[in-house]
Amino acid sequence: MKERERLRINDLLKSTDQVGSEVVIKGWVRTKRGNKNVAFLAVNDGSVIHNLQVVAEVAQFEEQLKQVTTGSCVAVTGKLVESSGQGQNVEVQATDIVLYGGADPESYPLQKKGHTLEFLREIAHLRPRTNTFGAVLRIRHAMAFAIHKYFNDYGFYYLHTPIITGSDAEGAGAMFHVTTLDLDHLPVTESGAVDYTQDFFGKPVNLTVSGQLEGELGAMALGKIYTFGPTFRAENSNTPRHLSEFWMIEPEMAFYEIADNMDLAEDFLKSLIRYALENCTADLEFIASMYDNELMERLRFVVENDFVRLSYTEGVKILEQSGVKFEFPVSWGVDLQSEHERYLVEKHFKKPVILTDYPRDIKAFYMKQNNDGKTVRAMDVLFPKIGEIIGGSQREEDFGKLKKRIEELHIPEKDMWWYLDTRRFGSAPHSGFGLGFERLLLFVTGMTNIRDVIPFPRTPKNAEF
Ligand code: 4AD
Ligand code: MG
Repeated sequence: MKERERLRINDLLKSTDQVGSEVVIKGWVRTKRGNKNVAFLAVNDGSVIHNLQVVAEVAQFEEQLKQVTTGSCVAVTGKLVESSGQGQNVEVQATDIVLYGGADPESYPLQKKGHTLEFLREIAHLRPRTNTFGAVLRIRHAMAFAIHKYFNDYGFYYLHTPIITGSDAEGAGAMFHVTTLDLDHLPVTESGAVDYTQDFFGKPVNLTVSGQLEGELGAMALGKIYTFGPTFRAENSNTPRHLSEFWMIEPEMAFYEIADNMDLAEDFLKSLIRYALENCTADLEFIASMYDNELMERLRFVVENDFVRLSYTEGVKILEQSGVKFEFPVSWGVDLQSEHERYLVEKHFKKPVILTDYPRDIKAFYMKQNNDGKTVRAMDVLFPKIGEIIGGSQREEDFGKLKKRIEELHIPEKDMWWYLDTRRFGSAPHSGFGLGFERLLLFVTGMTNIRDVIPFPRTPKNAEF
C-alpha cells in the first residue's frame, strides 16, 4: 500500500463517483462495535470531523480485529459502498486491514467520548485526536490561511520581524530574557552589575512582545505590510484570555490615519469570520452542537452589523452612569478591564465596539498625541465574550513630539535611535494594529479558554513538551 494511494476521508466523502471502487484509507480507530459476525470500525484521519465506517467480516479478520482497539492506527483497503447505517452515506467493506500501531485499552486515555476540556489539557499531546481539537486545529489553519489571503489580496507584504530583539515595543516590562550566559556563574563588572558584553549579542536582549516597531520600518518603505508571528509576554496573567506565548497579526500602513485604521480592522475581522462561516461549516457546527448553540448566530451577527465607534471618554461616561458595581471601579484615566469592555459590548451596545482616544498615560509611547494634551489616537476593538481583540493606533509621526515622549518615559534613546530615524527621514502619517490570533480563535470557535485554541499552550508554570 503506497501512501499516494491513500484517500483522505474528507476527499472521499466529498466525491460522488467513488462508490463501487476500491479505496485505501488510513487513520485512527475511534470506536469498534459489532457482533460475532461483523465488526464496525469508526476511522478518523484528521482531514475532516466525520469518521468513515469500515465493515469487517470477523471470520476473515479475526487476528487483526483482536488488536484493533480504540486509538489504534490502521490502513484499510476495501470497496466503497453506499451505507444503510445512520449518519453516513458511504462505508468501506474491508478486503485488507493492516495494523500500524495498537493502543493498549488499559492505558490509552481517550477511551470514550465526553472528556472534560480540563482533562484534555492534561494530555495535550493526545488531544488533537479528539473531535473538539481536530475541529479547533482545522479552524486555526483556515484562519491563518484567510489572514494571508486577505492581506495578499489587498496589497500588503508579509514582513518577518525579529523574534529576538533589543527593544521593548510596549514598554510593559514583562519580557523573557534571552541569554547564553551561565546563570549560575554570571560574569560581573567592577561595579557588580551583570557584564552583558560577555553575552552572545554583547548586550541584553529579549523575546519580542510585538513586531510593531520593526513593522513600522517596513511600512515606511513598502507602504503596507503585515507581520504574523509568535510574541512572548512574561506577565503573570493566569486568565482564560492570556497566553505567555501567543501569535499576533500586525498590519502597518503608511498614509493611514485612525479612521482608515478602524475601517481596515472592521473589514478584516468581518472578512475572517465570513471565511470561517463559508469554509469551516462542519467543524463550527460540531463545536456549536457540543458547547455553544448560539455560536453561528453570534458569528453572523458580527459580519452583518456595523461596529460602534466611540471615544474612551464617552465609554467611561456610559460605564459610570450604568449603575453597575464593577469589581474594578471605573473613572476617567483608568485602564479598562475586560468586565468594563464586555459591559459596553454585551449589555449596552450589543455590538462590537471600537473605542478610541484613550488617556495618554495608559498607552504606549508611540501613539499619536491629540491636541488636547491628554489623549492619544489609540483604538481598541472590543468583542462579545472576549473584550479586547485588537489594539492599535495612529503613530506619532512628528520627530520632536515622539522624542519628547521617549524622554518623559525614560526610554533609553540609545535603544530607539533607529525608530526615531523613520521620523527623521521621510516621515509620514501611518497607523497599524495588532490582532491576537488566539483571541480571534476564541471568538470564532466559541471556546472559552485560550489554552484550548493553541496546540501547545504556554502559561505561567506550564511549558510541557
Ligand atoms: O494591545 P497589544 O498589547 O498591542 C500591541 O502589541 C501593539 N504593538 C499592536 C500594534 O499596534 N501593532 O496587543 C495586541 C493584541 C491584543 O488586542 C490581544 O488581542 C492580543 O494582542 N494579546 C494577547 N493575546 C493572548 N495573550 C496575551 N497575553 C495577549 N496580550 C495581547
Ligand atoms: Mg492592548
